[in-house]
This record gives sequence, C-alpha cells and structure tokens, in this order.
Amino acid sequence: MTRHIPLPVEIEIPFPKPPKVLSESEQQFHKDKIKTLLQQHNAVLIAHYYTDPEIQALAEETGGFVGDSLEMAKFGANHSADTLIIAGVKFMGETAKILGPEKRVLMPTLEATCSLDLGCPIEPFSEFCDQHPDRTVVVYANTSAAVKAKADWVVTSSIAVEVIEHIQDLGQKIIWGPDKHLGGYIQEKTGADMLLWQGACIVHDEFKFQGLENAMALYPEAAILVHPESPKKVVELADVVGSTSQLIKAAQSLPQKQMIVATDKGIFYKMQQAAPDKELIIAPTAGEGATCKSCAHCPWMKMNALHSLSNVFDRTDNEILVENNLVKEALKPLTKMVNFVNQN
Ligand code: 13P
Ligand code: SF4
Repeated sequence: MTRHIPLPVEIEIPFPKPPKVLSESEQQFHKDKIKTLLQQHNAVLIAHYYTDPEIQALAEETGGFVGDSLEMAKFGANHSADTLIIAGVKFMGETAKILGPEKRVLMPTLEATCSLDLGCPIEPFSEFCDQHPDRTVVVYANTSAAVKAKADWVVTSSIAVEVIEHIQDLGQKIIWGPDKHLGGYIQEKTGADMLLWQGACIVHDEFKFQGLENAMALYPEAAILVHPESPKKVVELADVVGSTSQLIKAAQSLPQKQMIVATDKGIFYKMQQAAPDKELIIAPTAGEGATCKSCAHCPWMKMNALHSLSNVFDRTDNEILVENNLVKEALKPLTKMVNFVNQN
C-alpha cells in the first residue's frame, strides 16, 4: 500500500547559473594547479559520475576516485588523506564528513545542492515523522545531515530495494523520503507499506515517456537503462532499472550494442570506459514542443568547475562543517547502511 502526502510547504527550487566557460589554456592552467595543490595538501579528489568529464578525468589522473554516492563515502572514509575534496553535491560532502569527522572536507562550492535535499527541509519532515511514530523512517542519501539524523535508515538507490525488503521482513511500516518516484518504484517492487514524501529530482523528472518511445522507435535494437528517480511511465519502458553503478555494469554486460540511457549524461564518461564498444544515447528530456531545463545534466553537479576546484584551498566558505550532535545522530543510520552493504 502506498499513500502519497502533499508537500506540506511550497518549496521554490531555483536553478543555479552555469559556470563560466574556460578556454583550453585556462583549463590546462587550472588542472596543473589542482594537481600540485592536491600533493602539497595531502588531499584526494573524489568525484561523482555526474560531474563533467574533465573533473572525473582529473580525479582518476591524481589517484582519486570516481563513483556513486555510496562508493564515494566509503572511499573517503578509508583513505589516508587529511583532506577530502568532494566534487559532487553538498549531501555527498556532508556524508563524507559524518563518516570521517576527523578529516577536512572541502568542496568547490557549497552552493552545489540537490532538488531532493532542498525539497525536504528538516522542520516539516520532522513534523511529518512525528505524526507517524509507528513507522520506520527511511531516507535517501540525497538529504541534509539534519534529515539523516532524524532517520532510522539511510539508503542509496543501489541498495534501497534490499533495505526496504529487510525492514518489511521485520514487519515494520515505513516513511520514505524524499524522492516520490524512487519511493513509488520500491513500493511496487516490494509491496511494502510506505508513506511517501513528495520530492523529485529535477533532472530525472524531465525524462518523458513519449520522447523515450520515439527514441525506441529510432533505435529498435537498443537496450533501455533507467535510473529509478525517473517518472513511473519512463521506468516501465526500461530493460534495466538501477543506480548509477548498476547502469554502468548493465551497459557493460548487456549484449545490445546501443543503449538509451535515462540518467544524468555525466555518467557517459565512465560508462563509455566500461563499455567502449557500445553506442550511448541520452534519453529525451522534453515532450514535443517543450524545452528542457536541466537537459539531462544536473545544474548543481555542473557547478564543480575547474576554476572553483583550483581555488578550493584559498577560501573559507567551502568547508563542510556538521554540528557534533548531528554527526553523532546521522552516523547511526549511515553506519547501518554501510554494515548492511558489507553483510549483503
Ligand atoms: P547515486 O547514489 O547512484 O550516486 O545517485 C545520486 C544521485 O544524485 C542520483 O541523481
Ligand atoms: Fe539531486 Fe537530481 Fe542532481 Fe542527483 S541529479 S544531485 S538527485 S538534483
């Protein structure tokens, strides 16, 4: 049984401005500077699959890491560097800090956030949870430290279904937040009793059923790979539904030579590395006559620009700081998630 609740507050989600475009020589200047600084500061660059290709390449070239949000957090916590540079969005920096509070965590900009995080402010979410004290609170990793601190479990899309099945086996009813599409998808797969917060990812929400059907007619042999933050009708067309890492594995292992992919196109950098012989096609993001806003690239991920990265050590406005009591509380559901992953 799924029950949807209306969002208790009107939340405006403003799009950030795209960063300035750099010339080739400017790009090279910043890349060289970043490489030197990482060594000088015993720092490591950890990038998400959705950042721009030059950022992911830099992380690889400097002995850093590119991965999904869960892998990023685990890599950071286990790495010997004093400073973690997180190229991603703010919740990823916060998760790294909570799992490794002794480390300094810097980001190119703390303004790089996420529509799911913005769409789930702690006060109304907390009130909502308090209205249903009989339910286990499960939140997606794409939330603030305060929302995580309120939760019994944190999950990423790579293990959400398994964790919900586990909670269901314990006979517990669930509050799920914030992504309504991912929550609806999990509910359908598991049949769990879930109350869904009504947040959405502005990037995945733009993938359209009709556009995808048209693309499927153009590429009839292609496999369809869809991230579960996409709308239900898009998910229903998929051959594989999965998290970023799961979609990359699918591109590698499926026999089809063409893949239509409904997720942020930043993923193509690693997907193409993993499946060099495959043709990757981005799923359409707008219906006929409409214009896309994000155009399959997260505007906050895009804020992780080379020039912001190269002055990451010079500023005082870009360090992730999480209050001690929030670290303590948010660590509990995050540790549960990490332990669950390690045991399964
Ligand atoms: P992952 O948890 O798969 O890295 O995805 C995070 C995200 O922001 C998806 O839009
Ligand atoms: Fe958030 Fe969507 Fe951007 Fe992922 S792609 S960080 S869910 S806004």
